[in-house]
Amino acid sequence: TYIVTDNCIKCKYMDCVEVCPVDCFYEGENMLVIHPDECIDCGVCEPECPAEAIVPDTEPGLESWLEINTKFAEVWPNITEKRDPPADAEKHDGEKGKFEKYFS
Ligand code: SF4
Ligand code: F3S
Repeated sequence: TYIVTDNCIKCKYMDCVEVCPVDCFYEGENMLVIHPDECIDCGVCEPECPAEAIVPDTEPGLESWLEINTKFAEVWPNITEKRDPPADAEKHDGEKGKFEKYFS
């Protein structure tokens, strides 16, 4: 499966939702997650994310992000259409420690 990681937080560009063939993105206040059981591993979303926040879960050290995607995809609403990203998205692109500061 692919998962959404830290740099999505507060950037939330939403280009990813438009290309997913199975509509498996879910929306929280500050970021999106992928439902790992619904993702068909097509990889189409990965290059679409301007924040490079989408990665395959086979990369090392991503256990906690897989847990977060799994947990919140069950709670947050499905999102299938892109809206305008936050006005200050670029300011937060690449910022360190976003999870601790802003995750909700
Ligand atoms: Fe959707 Fe494919 Fe990305 Fe999985 S890898 S979230 S199926 S676009
Ligand atoms: Fe987040 Fe990238 Fe999608 S910033 S909302 S994963 S396009």
